[in-house]
Amino acid sequence: MDSVDDISSTKQRRSTTLVLVVIAVAIVGGFTIGILIGRFATCPDEENAKYKKSVKEADSTITDLLMQSISAENIEVNLKHLTQSPHIAGRDRDFELVAYLKSKFTEYGLDSVKSTPYQVLLSYPDNENPNTVLIVNNTGGETIVFDSTSTESNVSQLEGVIRPFLAYSPSGVVNVEIAARYGALGVIIYSDPADYTWSGDPRYFPETWLLPSSGAQRGSLYTGVGDPLTPGYPSTATSYRYNESSTPTPLPTIPAHAMGYGGAIHFLKLGPGLTPGLSLRMKVTTTNSIRRVDNVIATLKGDVEPDRYVLMGNHRDAWVYGSFDPSGGMAVMMEVARAMGQLVKNSNFSLYALGTPLMYRALYEATKKVPNPSEEEVSQNRPTVYDTWVHSFSWTSAGLDLPL
Ligand SMILES: *[C@@H]1O[C@H](CO)[C@@H](O)[C@H](O)[C@H]1NC(C)=O
Ligand SMILES: *[C@@H]1O[C@H](CO)[C@@H](O)[C@H](O)[C@H]1NC(C)=O
Ligand SMILES: *[C@@H]1O[C@H](CO)[C@@H](O)[C@H](O)[C@H]1NC(C)=O
Ligand SMILES: *[C@@H]1O[C@H](CO)[C@@H](O)[C@H](O)[C@H]1NC(C)=O
Repeated sequence: MDSVDDISSTKQRRSTTLVLVVIAVAIVGGFTIGILIGRFATCPDEENAKYKKSVKEADSTITDLLMQSISAENIEVNLKHLTQSPHIAGRDRDFELVAYLKSKFTEYGLDSVKSTPYQVLLSYPDNENPNTVLIVNNTGGETIVFDSTSTESNVSQLEGVIRPFLAYSPSGVVNVEIAARYGALGVIIYSDPADYTWSGDPRYFPETWLLPSSGAQRGSLYTGVGDPLTPGYPSTATSYRYNESSTPTPLPTIPAHAMGYGGAIHFLKLGPGLTPGLSLRMKVTTTNSIRRVDNVIATLKGDVEPDRYVLMGNHRDAWVYGSFDPSGGMAVMMEVARAMGQLVKNSNFSLYALGTPLMYRALYEATKKVPNPSEEEVSQNRPTVYDTWVHSFSWTSAGLDLPL
């Protein structure tokens, strides 16, 4: 009995192996045939050529018209308007600019203009209780030797200017002895004159556009991209949000403050090792909150391949006036939008219709029956819409047959 069992089980194993081999061959064969069908059975080259002919290369006359109509004066006017007052994200002036841009894009004749709201984690300092870093002399009481709030006073006091801060810095009061043993408790970030002035040239703003010693750069400490609470996806009202302590890219955990190099020098002079009798005190009142910000989106719909997009974008919000970043870019983008809108408004249009091939026939016949609404065209001996259509569209250069 044993040996009979052995034989039948060996046979069974063989036939199982055979079945597996057949299946494997069938899969590989099927796959190969599929690839061959995909490669050779569809899209005959003739069809491709016909399609390619209808997709024109960029028309250089359009490029030239566009370039000629860009006006430096318009860019200047745009820049002046955008930089009239500070426009940090999520505050009043930023929303005024949303409305302004929408009205401009509409005036330029773009096809659709809309704004889309998002709810984003933003960060602001407390202007009433500003961020500071102090150097304090503790000998016989407390004398303030240096106060960083004083250094940028002539800019910070201007209407709407937010005081120096670093976005997403946690708030806190830090008493940093330079003898502080393990790890930093707070951070001072300053703009190095090596990066922001010309060596050997002592002139700065308003004489040149270089950063004065009092100039503190606002900026963000977040090392990720976009809204920290919705990384990689839109911050719409209903999006899932991480909390501030669980964001995939962590938010900073120790307070930080920005100051100009004129202020930083007081701190650099102290080290290494703090002069005995002195201490540092940092106060950061920056807080985070979820605020509304809007994107403005204007579209100019293409005639050829309208389902393909060419995107042009620029951010609008600025830490302060933003005359360089971002409004320089915004001013140019507005002018390009104006020039494109104008080009479309002034273009010669011909009839444009999409449909199945059977529809074309009906369409041609219909246009032959519609009297030409343009008296000028009629006087040129083109009595129907069909005549103007045939006349004004360059059928042959588009690689198309005349609609007969
Ligand atoms: C701190 O103040 C005392 C008293 O005015 C002064 O004698 C001392 O030089 C000061 N220390 C430093 C490091 O400036
Ligand atoms: C800002 O204030 C400083 C110091 O008070 C002064 O030297 C500088 O000229 C002022 N700058 C401007 C642009 O007013
Ligand atoms: C933040 O989210 C993490 C992970 O979901 C959770 O463990 C933690 O308790 C949350 N913290 C707060 C303050 O809600
Ligand atoms: C429209 O086309 C006609 C004929 O091709 C041409 O003379 C005229 O200048 C064009 N108008 C515009 C605004 O491009």
